[in-house]
Amino acid sequence: MSGLVMNLKGFARVDRDGMDTVDLNDSVRSALTIASHQLRDRITVVQQLGDVPKVKCMPSQINQVFLNMITNAAQAMGEEGTLTIRSQAKPNVVEVSFEDTGSGIADDVLPKIFDPFFTTKPVGEGTGLGLSIVHKIIQGHGGAIRVKSQVGKGTTFFVELPLAQTATAKAA
Ligand SMILES: Nc1ncnc2c1ncn2[C@@H]1O[C@H](COP(=O)(O)OP(=O)(O)OP(=O)(O)O)[C@@H](O)[C@H]1O
Ligand SMILES: [Mg+2]
Repeated sequence: MSGLVMNLKGFARVDRDGMDTVDLNDSVRSALTIASHQLRDRITVVQQLGDVPKVKCMPSQINQVFLNMITNAAQAMGEEGTLTIRSQAKPNVVEVSFEDTGSGIADDVLPKIFDPFFTTKPVGEGTGLGLSIVHKIIQGHGGAIRVKSQVGKGTTFFVELPLAQTATAKAA
C-alpha cells in the first residue's frame, strides 16, 4: 500500500510540478502501476524498454499521456490481448510506442480520434477527451504522435519527445 501511495505521489508530482529531466522508462513503469487494475490477468504486458537518454519534460503530463495510451489499449482489447510498450532512442528524439492487439481503428474513424469529444464508446464510458489532451500535451512539448492501425488486428501509437526543448515548446 505504501509503495502504491509513493508511486501515486510520484505520478502526480504533487510536491514539485513543472519541468524535469526524466527517464521515460520510469514514466512507463509508473503509468503501468497506476493502470494495473485495468490490465490485471486480462492483458499481457510486454515491456521492451531500451537504453534511452533522459528528456526534459513535464513528467506529470507525460505520465498522463502514457496512462491514456494504456487505458485506450486496454479498452480496445476486450477479453484478452497483449500490450507491447517499446522505447528507443532516435536522432534528436526518444520514441515510446504502445502496440495493442485490440479492435483496431477503421479508416474513416482514424482522422477523428484526436478531436475533442470524439468517442466510439457508449455514453457514460468515454468522454472523447483522452487523445485530444494527449495531442495538446505532446504538441506543448514540441513532440509528435503517430498512429498505425489495422481493423481486427490492433493499433500502435508512437509518441516522440525531443531530447532538447525547442523554442516553441519552451513558449508553450
Ligand atoms: N488503442 C486503441 N484501439 C482502438 N481504438 C482506439 C484506441 N485508442 C483510441 N481509439 C479510438 O479513439 C477514440 C477517441 O479516444 P479518446 O481517448 O480521445 O476518447 P475515449 O477513450 O473514447 O474517451 P476518454 O479517453 O475520454 O475516456 C476512442 O473512442 C476509440 O474509438
Ligand atoms: Mg481514452
